[in-house]
Amino acid sequence: MAAVRPSVYVTQRVLDVVGHVLTEHGITFEVRDEETPATPEALREAVVGRRGVICQIRDRFDAALLSEIAGSCKVIATISVGVDHIDVEAARGLGIHVTNTPDALTETTADLTWALMLAAARRLGEAERFVRAGRWTGWGLTQFLGVDVHSATLGIVGGGRIGMAVARRASGFRMNVLCHTRDPGRARAENAVRFVSFETLLRESDFVSLHVPLSPQTHHMIGDAQLQMMKATAILINTARGPVVDETAMIRALQEGRIGGAGLDVFEREPAVPEALLRLDNVVALPHIGSASRGTREMMCRMAAESVVAALRGERPRYVV
Ligand code: DGY
Repeated sequence: MAAVRPSVYVTQRVLDVVGHVLTEHGITFEVRDEETPATPEALREAVVGRRGVICQIRDRFDAALLSEIAGSCKVIATISVGVDHIDVEAARGLGIHVTNTPDALTETTADLTWALMLAAARRLGEAERFVRAGRWTGWGLTQFLGVDVHSATLGIVGGGRIGMAVARRASGFRMNVLCHTRDPGRARAENAVRFVSFETLLRESDFVSLHVPLSPQTHHMIGDAQLQMMKATAILINTARGPVVDETAMIRALQEGRIGGAGLDVFEREPAVPEALLRLDNVVALPHIGSASRGTREMMCRMAAESVVAALRGERPRYVV
């Protein structure tokens, strides 16, 4: 007789809290303790027949896979706020809850956005590499001249939770904050933000920071035409999703000095980072660590596990997308 599979499949390595929450509720589970995603075939084989799945942003759940698991699967809980790796519409049609982890990572991602802004503006990556290479011979008046963050104009693209958390921090830096969002009424601004058109934001901002989800509407939202509108000194910050920016166009603009620099936590074809980008000193590149603080990742793991518990009890989980 074939062995009964644990109810819940956890697609990649997670923090222990996931196991604690599931065990506490008597739910059996299996964890694939790897930090890289399974192949599509292996993922398919592993999730068929499960009642719930806890996944991450590198696991793809397309309509075909969702319809195969629909008979048994009640919930796919992704440990992320982004859900562009899941066909949410298809899941909804099949009666599978898709849950994510909003709120938990808002402030942590906003902190990292600021770290990138400051690092790119004040050339921290370059300066740090210089010291580590043993090249510093003493204080110099003209060394590593950057641009000021305080009193500059910050343009926030996307008025959701993270965009507004970034805006809040700007008041301490006495910045002029612009925001472009489809729905200004929903943007929860706690300090003075001027809502403007996308074009005005691009033309007036010293820092352009992206905070939109990836969708067909936001794919390559920053391309040649938009980069052309930006100031030659402007710094582009992306902690959202790589494909929101046309990476080839951005590299060209950086190489030709049409924009001043970039602070990037995400890339178009992760984990590939183009060589040409890494050769540019005015780029700060990070490995998609926006939400990577211990407290936040613990909270995200807990939320995903609790969503699974709720769905398996027949309840509607709190964070259904
Ligand atoms: C998300 O949550 O979507 C991030 O990209 C990973 O934390």
